[in-house]
Amino acid sequence: MLEHDVLVIGAGLAGMRAAIAARANGANTAIISKVHPVRSHSNAAQGGINAALLDRGDDWEDHAYDTIKGSDFLGDQDAIEVMCRSAGKALIDMEHMGVTFNRDDEGKLGTRAFGGQRRARTFFVGDFTGQALLHVMFEQLIKSGVQSYEEWFVTSLIIEDGQVGGVTALEIRTGQLHAIRAKTIIFCTGGCGRLFEPSTNALIVTGDGMALAYNAGAGLMDMEMVQYHPTTLAGSGVLLSEAARGEGAYLRDKNGNRFMEKYAPNMMELASRDVVSRAEQTEINAGNGINGCVFLDCTHLGEALITEKLSQIREIGIDLAGVDMVREPVPIRPGMHYIMGGIKTDIDGQTTLPGVYAAGECANVSVHGGNRLGANSLLDTIVFGERSGNHAAEASRSIPFLPFNEQEVVSREEQRIREMLERPDNGDRWGNIRLGMGESMVGNVAVYRDHQSVEEAIRDLGQLRDRYAQVPVHNKNRVFNTDLVFALELGYMLDVADTIAVSALDRKESRGAQARTDYPSRDDENWLKHIVAKKGEVGPEISYLPVTITKWELEERKY
Ligand code: FUM
Repeated sequence: MLEHDVLVIGAGLAGMRAAIAARANGANTAIISKVHPVRSHSNAAQGGINAALLDRGDDWEDHAYDTIKGSDFLGDQDAIEVMCRSAGKALIDMEHMGVTFNRDDEGKLGTRAFGGQRRARTFFVGDFTGQALLHVMFEQLIKSGVQSYEEWFVTSLIIEDGQVGGVTALEIRTGQLHAIRAKTIIFCTGGCGRLFEPSTNALIVTGDGMALAYNAGAGLMDMEMVQYHPTTLAGSGVLLSEAARGEGAYLRDKNGNRFMEKYAPNMMELASRDVVSRAEQTEINAGNGINGCVFLDCTHLGEALITEKLSQIREIGIDLAGVDMVREPVPIRPGMHYIMGGIKTDIDGQTTLPGVYAAGECANVSVHGGNRLGANSLLDTIVFGERSGNHAAEASRSIPFLPFNEQEVVSREEQRIREMLERPDNGDRWGNIRLGMGESMVGNVAVYRDHQSVEEAIRDLGQLRDRYAQVPVHNKNRVFNTDLVFALELGYMLDVADTIAVSALDRKESRGAQARTDYPSRDDENWLKHIVAKKGEVGPEISYLPVTITKWELEERKY
C-alpha cells in the first residue's frame, strides 16, 4: 500500500513549496501530479513576484494597503498582512535557492512597476518569472527526497466519517487505478481557467482540486470573482504580460488615443486589472476598437529593452498574430486569466475538512478578494504553500492513518471508470461539451454581466451536464488514455462552473471583478461579505462569511 503522512496534489509552485516544507519538517511526503512538475501552469506566470523590501525604502504595510484596495476591500486583511509581511523572506529564499532575478544598474535585484501599486516592487526574470521559479523549485524538490507520482490523475478523495484517508488515482501511463493512503492532503491543483474559452491558462487548468474538495463538502468562496487580464492576444487569447505596461507600454484605441486617461487619470495603464479590463471592454463596446480588440503599444520602448525584458511576449505576438511589437501595436482584449475564489482556507491552509489543506490558486485564503494584483499570485503560492506544508507535517504527527479497505475503494472507482468507457457512442463528444461550457462562461459570466446573462450560463450548464452524463469515451484502451482523463476533467469543470455562475447571480452589486450592469455600484451595507458555495442536493448552496478588517478602512476606489 502506498502510504504518506502528507500527500500534496498538484506540482506547481504552491505544491512543490508545500511538499518541500512538509519534508523538511520530517513528514513522509509525496506529491502527485497529472503532468510532469515542470509542465505545471505556474510556468506561464510571466511578469514577476511582489515583495516590499525594507532596504529599498518600501514597507510591507504599503504593499498590504495596495493589495486591500486592489481587492476592492473584499480581501481578509489578516491574511493579507501575513502574505505581505512574509514576502521579503519568500523572495530572498527563492533567490538563495538559485533563481537568477534580473538586476538593476547597481547590481541589486531589479524591480518593475505593476498594476494597482504605488511603488515598483515586482521582482522578475525577464517575462518568464514563473518558469524560472518553477524549475528552481523542481531542483529543490528532487534534492528534498519527496516521493513524486508524475502523470497520475486523482479521481477521488477518500473520506470516511469526516476523516480524510487518501485518494484514488489513475496512473496515466498504465491505466491502473491505485489507492494512496495519507494522513493529510494538500490541494495545490491551480485554478480553473479552462472553464472559459479562450483563457490565458494551460489546457490542464480544469479545477480538479476545487471540485474534489467541493464534492467532499468544502466551501468554495468568492467564486464569482473571475479575473479578466487586460492584455490577452487577439484570437488565441495567450497572455501578453502586464510587464509590458510596467515597462511603459500604452493602451490605445483604434484612433491612437490613450483611453485610460478617462478611467484612471493617475495610474493610467497601471490601474488595477479589473479597472483596465472594464475600460477596454467599454471602448470596444462603444466601437472604438477593431475586431473586438484595442491595442498594446510598445513601439516607443525600443528593441533593446524589449529584447532584454519582454522577449517572450514579443515572440508570442510574432508567432501567433504575425505582429512584431517592436514595430507595431499588438491587438489585445480582456481575457480570462485567474480566479480569486477557491477552497476556503485559514492562514495555514486548513480547509473546513479535517486533515485537508489547500494553497495557491485552488485555495482562497482571501488575499485577493474581488481583484488580484498582478504578481501577487506567485507570492501567494510560495507563502501559503510553505505554511500549508509546515502545518500539515505538524498535524500529521498526531493523526492516525484511516484504515479504509483498499480493494473496496479501488474497485468502486474501477467500476465508475468502466461505466464511462462502456458507454455507447451517441455521437456527442466531450470536446463539444467543454467548448460549449467555455463559450457560455466567457459570453455570460464576462467582464460585464447581469442577471439575465448569468441565468443563461446556468441554463447552459444544466443542459451540458445532462449531455455529460451520457458522453462516450472513444479510446477504450487503458494505456495513456488521455481521452478518458479529459472526460474525467470535464466532470470537475462542470461542478466548478456551477459554483461560479450561482455566486455571480447571487452577488447583487459591483465589486472588483464582479461588474453587474444591473447593480453598477459597490454596496458595502449589504454585500461586504464573502459568498461561500457548498454542494447541496440539487446544486451549489450559498452561505455568507464576514470580511476580516484589521486597520484599513473602506474607501472609494480610484486610480
Ligand atoms: O501579466 C502578467 O505577467 C501576469 C502576472 C500575474 O498574473 O500575476
